[in-house]
Amino acid sequence: MTTPTPPAKTGSPATAPVLEIRDLSVEFATDSGTVRAVDHVDLTVEKGGILGLVGESGSGKSVTALCILGLIGSRRAKITSGEVRFQGEDLLTKTERQMRDVRGGRIGLVSQNALSALDPSFRIGDQLIEVIRLHQHVDKATAARIALDSLDIVALPDAARRMRSYPHELSGGQRQRVVIAIALACRPQLLIADEPTTALDATVQQQILDLLLDINKNLGTSMLMVTHDFGVVAHMCTTVAVMRKGRIVEQGEAGEIISFPRQPYTQGLMNAVPRLRLSETERAVPRSQRRLPVFVEESAFAERADYATV
Ligand SMILES: Nc1ncnc2c1ncn2[C@@H]1O[C@H](COP(=O)(O)OP(=O)(O)OP(=O)(O)O)[C@@H](O)[C@H]1O
Ligand SMILES: [Mg+2]
Repeated sequence: MTTPTPPAKTGSPATAPVLEIRDLSVEFATDSGTVRAVDHVDLTVEKGGILGLVGESGSGKSVTALCILGLIGSRRAKITSGEVRFQGEDLLTKTERQMRDVRGGRIGLVSQNALSALDPSFRIGDQLIEVIRLHQHVDKATAARIALDSLDIVALPDAARRMRSYPHELSGGQRQRVVIAIALACRPQLLIADEPTTALDATVQQQILDLLLDINKNLGTSMLMVTHDFGVVAHMCTTVAVMRKGRIVEQGEAGEIISFPRQPYTQGLMNAVPRLRLSETERAVPRSQRRLPVFVEESAFAERADYATV
């Protein structure tokens, strides 16, 4: 299947992409035979852009993301073809030692189960400082300053005090901000976020996506945003690649693909985005007959409620 490469972003035709994946294939040896999880994939992340890699569960998104970081490759998993060019260098030719500098240094990862990325037995600040000192030759006091800056970037309230907190003392949304701060601590040129909001409720999801968008705008960090949700693509991505059964079936400018999807599969993913609007039945009930919630004067939620009168 031919898969058009996305055009360069308007206004930056001379800027080289930060990441170019060409002809990437990955196979797993399983008890029931060989599985090709990634099948001749081409992807491009423009400098300063956000590429949404979207597809249903099992389509190969995470395996593709892990290849970029050199985290695939064992007796049972094999990269059978391709190149992963990051800032012009093919990461697939690097040694494990060289990749340790790239991971967490030049490329940050917010992994699919991000909350387990924090060690419950260490303070937030110590976990940040450890990552910073692993990649930058700075003393502990300087690393602590960089750590605090990173917590400020992710807008963690009361960051100085939070440096001394353990993960269980933070809410899910706050922990996710810390995970993003760790991924950003060494100011990577590329951030890979694999379903970064999966475990969070809808309001917090939106806040985390807005935070990533701010980071992209303010720091210029390029991003690969892995998601199964076209709502996320519409909200924040400049380009999109649609993945199905290990292959890219469609890719290009996000706005263009959302307006004119060429593949029924893409249309299906877009139709799966929930719409938080009133159903037709609810619309049919006159506004005057809809039951309104009752608020007592002291309601803690009054200021956030549409119908509150206090
Ligand atoms: N270690 C492994 N051994 C065998 N098969 C694997 C392994 N890891 C992944 N796969 C297979 O590769 C395919 C792609 O998996 P991947 O985790 O990339 O999917 P995904 O698109 O990220 O899905 P999700 O949205 O559920 O996270 C799946 O069929 C999966 O079963
Ligand atoms: Mg995945």
